Amino acid sequence: MELNILTVCYLLGAITFILGLKMLSNPATARRGNQIAATGMIVAILGTIFLYRDDDGNRLHNHGWIFGGILIGGVVGTLAAKKVKMTAMPEMVSMFNGMGGACAALISIVEFNRLIKHPSWTIYPPLSSLGPSAFEIHLPNGELLIILLGLMIGSISFAGSMIAWGKLNGTIKDFAFKGQHILNLFFLLLMFAGIAFLMTNIQRGFFLDIASTSIAAEVWVKLIFYGVLTFALLYGILFVMPIGGADMPVVISLLNSFTGVAAACGGFLYNNKVMLTGGILVGAAGTLLTILMCKAMNRSLANVLIGSFGGGAAAAAGKQQGGYKEIHISDAAVAMAYANKVMIVPGYGLAVAQAQHACHDLEKLLNERGVEVKYAIHPVAGRMPGHMNVLLAEADVSYEKLEEMDEANEEFPSTDVVLVLGANDVVNPAAKTDTSSPIYGMPILDVELAKTIIVNKRSMKPGYAGIENELFFRKKTSMLFGDAKKVLQDLIAEIKQL
Ligand code: TAP
Repeated sequence: MELNILTVCYLLGAITFILGLKMLSNPATARRGNQIAATGMIVAILGTIFLYRDDDGNRLHNHGWIFGGILIGGVVGTLAAKKVKMTAMPEMVSMFNGMGGACAALISIVEFNRLIKHPSWTIYPPLSSLGPSAFEIHLPNGELLIILLGLMIGSISFAGSMIAWGKLNGTIKDFAFKGQHILNLFFLLLMFAGIAFLMTNIQRGFFLDIASTSIAAEVWVKLIFYGVLTFALLYGILFVMPIGGADMPVVISLLNSFTGVAAACGGFLYNNKVMLTGGILVGAAGTLLTILMCKAMNRSLANVLIGSFGGGAAAAAGKQQGGYKEIHISDAAVAMAYANKVMIVPGYGLAVAQAQHACHDLEKLLNERGVEVKYAIHPVAGRMPGHMNVLLAEADVSYEKLEEMDEANEEFPSTDVVLVLGANDVVNPAAKTDTSSPIYGMPILDVELAKTIIVNKRSMKPGYAGIENELFFRKKTSMLFGDAKKVLQDLIAEIKQL
């Protein structure tokens, strides 16, 4: 009976995860989706704690440890999530993701050590034809493979996410050296070799052949097991170290999918359906997001996998394009107040300035004057997927006013004024014209198709990819310097006077 209730709990968990994920795809339902999935997770966790029984019918008994862990993790997680600034979100995602990877790797380590405990290393008489030292450990090959995969993927995800976290908060700098890709591949090969070696030789009794006692054999097995762990950690570090510039989001979402797969390994290991479903969903969603990000940033997945992109992007700078034109608040206000249609292009600078509310106020004011206002959202504007959507939703901007890149590009030709607010790379025409540019091939918002372009930023400094932006020097473009929030407030005050 209890088992059936537990199965229902798991089923509920799995259904809410899928439902939640579906609802996350729309900003209007995302918050509710998150809550629904979280509720399902709570049901699954409580069900496991109170209803689970092992093969011998024993319940979980270490409630002190479990609830102690939940309490500490819950408090730290809640405080971190409440305090984190919107612009520091990717860092937090990276850190939490790394913890998931570490969990999966720890499960593998614990299970491996439990299953190869010395007493289970028995000489295996029925296989005496294989030689007197043939032995078995109580570990079917399928389980061993899952443990090893969980170890490898979880450790890569942990180490990579920690480096990504450090790079995003500026404590770790890009680091690359000649032959790094070869070394990465070498570590990858060593990991696979270690796994294949353990898989083929444990049951065959190889380790007892080379060791005089089963204790010594166990030391050999552990040596290779921890060797796989070490190479996985090194690979995770070296794989993320050189990546910089505009490619970071791809890496973070890829690591996220790794963690999902590692968690799914845990689900297989414990025959826990909800862990399996959750892991597969994270793995699949992360992989899809990685592919979409790759497309949005014009990076190939193969390059991501051998860690061979990005570093140069941040370093490369384009050539100075000549003079640029400045516009004053009063002229910008007139241009927008008397326009038929205004498109706002938000970028990272908008988030830095926390100007989303002022932006919404400007939109409402222009609407009152009969000006149609929409927002053009580039998939990688800001510093994380959906950054601009979340930011604008916080200020109650209607979702219907948000245009995705392709829709927006169709609307620019009929737009009178484009107001670029703290965006840079995502409107850089070099992505279309300059084959030597690190962002060449990345789809951009074609703001130049509009009649007038007003760019707000604080200086002529480059954006995230570290490259000059030709747009700022084009005839139709005028620069409106200043902090985005202050500029918007001044624009509002000016338009009210008109
Ligand atoms: P960026 O290219 O980074 O440009 C942002 C601009 O905002 C900067 O040029 C900066 O110029 C300006 N700015 C900063 N603070 C400001 C403030 N207080 N007021 C007004 N302007 C301010 O941003 P983007 O166009 O949104 O492009 C995003 C970039 O980040 C892409 O390269 C993308 O690949 C990368 N990236 C994206 C993600 C995701 S998934 N969204 C994740 C990581 C990286 P000043 O300093 O002159 O003001």
